[in-house]
Amino acid sequence: MTPDESPATTPHKPAGSASGEPLFEHTYDGIQEYDNPMPRWWVMIFWATIVFAVVYVANVLPIVGWGKGWHANYVDEMAAAEKKYAGSRAPQAAPPDDALLALAADPTERESGKVVYMKNCMPCHRVDAGGVIGPNLTDDFWIHGAKPGDIHRVVTAGVLDKGMPAWGAVLKPGEIERVTAYVISVHDTHPENPKAPQGVEAKPDAEPHDHAGHEPGAEGGAP
Ligand code: HEC
Repeated sequence: MTPDESPATTPHKPAGSASGEPLFEHTYDGIQEYDNPMPRWWVMIFWATIVFAVVYVANVLPIVGWGKGWHANYVDEMAAAEKKYAGSRAPQAAPPDDALLALAADPTERESGKVVYMKNCMPCHRVDAGGVIGPNLTDDFWIHGAKPGDIHRVVTAGVLDKGMPAWGAVLKPGEIERVTAYVISVHDTHPENPKAPQGVEAKPDAEPHDHAGHEPGAEGGAP
């Protein structure tokens, strides 16, 4: 089929080659080898891999080759990305209370906050925010303060030793603002069978309370 197999390229044909196939001259312990050259396409691919390896090494390592090399490019890109996203990973200060109240008053923002709530908060705070593992979020009793900024702060930083995750590491800043708005909006919705009040009675305009660790009532107490 291929030209290599044509008899023109055949080396010598020593005596003793019963089948007429070309044989190498050497014998090892009386064993002789056929001289079958690899097909040309195979040899081409073989050389191509060697050429590719040389080019590849030249471009990966910065010392040889051209450009900065793939590794250096990768480091550069990571550094650029780090710079670009560092801002969004830094802890976010709570937006002003007015801004959060405005979000809570906006039905579309509230709705998107509800989506975040149903996905992340509902298992602990109940679908109607009446509370199960986490406290009732609809009543006037707050462990960490009733102000919009207090809620935003608790949601962002969590209360890790009490089982409230720090959502600042999980949600995007916008999502935290909107879920905070949603929590503000469910206030006074009076769900059925709410969890018993935890914390102290506080209105959103009251001074912030941060009584973590010594809330009154049955739920508190020494660990
Ligand atoms: C794994 C269970 C769990 C999940 C999920 C959870 N929470 Fe909590 N949350 C708690 C617990 C427990 C507390 C009470 C912390 C304490 O006792 O100090 C709490 C407290 C809070 C408080 C403060 C309540 C107060 O009385 O001051 C807010 C606000 C709150 N969570 C909002 C959220 C939001 C919003 C989400 C979803 C983004 C969420 N939680 C998801 C368990 C959870």
